[in-house]
Amino acid sequence: MKVPFPALKSHYPLLRSLRTGFRDLLQRGAARCAKAIGVNPVMTNWALESAARRGLVETVKAALRVVGDIGFDLRYGTDTTRSVEIHRQHAESYRATEAASLMSLMRKLNLPKGGVFVDLGSGKGRVLLIAAQLGFKRIVGVEFSGELCEIARENVKAFSRRTQLAARIDIVRSDVANYLIESEQSVFFMYNPFDEVVMARVLTNLRSSITRFPRRIWLIYGKPVHDEAVSKSDLFSACEEFQIRGTRFKVYSN
Ligand SMILES: C[S@@+](CC[C@H](N)C(=O)[O-])C[C@H]1O[C@@H](n2cnc3c(N)ncnc32)[C@H](O)[C@@H]1O
Repeated sequence: MKVPFPALKSHYPLLRSLRTGFRDLLQRGAARCAKAIGVNPVMTNWALESAARRGLVETVKAALRVVGDIGFDLRYGTDTTRSVEIHRQHAESYRATEAASLMSLMRKLNLPKGGVFVDLGSGKGRVLLIAAQLGFKRIVGVEFSGELCEIARENVKAFSRRTQLAARIDIVRSDVANYLIESEQSVFFMYNPFDEVVMARVLTNLRSSITRFPRRIWLIYGKPVHDEAVSKSDLFSACEEFQIRGTRFKVYSN
């Protein structure tokens, strides 16, 4: 097990060997503790690396967020937490939005529950389930990975069994760049799903939809890496920014 250790340049051989000895001791100790309490070494490595990078307090907060997400899956019998690597040009891999931060954000916003909620790059469908929990009656997830669409459909079934879900949730297997936006769709969600190439296509599709069917729309953008493209598109007149727990969101409306 590798314990990240702050780089310390020392010209004194004694200091250098003390530092190396201390690091080895720490590495052996961490490995033994992890083994003794039955913790997965991958998790221990993640915790140690995270503590070195962002400090102990932030690491504990991040770990609690993962525990909360695992709790979501246990409560509803779903599989939404485990990440999945996606090897495709312009696409980000599957990482789920943290359940508690999205719920907290959506409760703050005055979104029209009568409109259709669409997650562009919906992965295993956690956001769709949260939209249903928060009162949306028609929900669509657009995702190009067949494997993730299958998992999302199973998740919807499991969630419906436990919650007597009243919403209709459709999972559409498609590249969002080619997805035709419908006139009743009014709340769009994205959690850092793709790069600026696909983003440009999505913004063009949104523009032609509201030109053909003028209406109010909202775009909730979690981890908004390409927010500049959204601002430059001039599609939206208002933008609010939120930092909720570990997630940054931008919420646009026209
Ligand atoms: C970061 S995950 C977010 C998943 C989900 N929206 C959430 O917040 O929990 C991004 C997802 O977008 C999907 N994706 C990326 N590019 C896409 C594209 N062009 N068309 C459809 N899905 C795409 C990926 O396969 C992945 O599942």
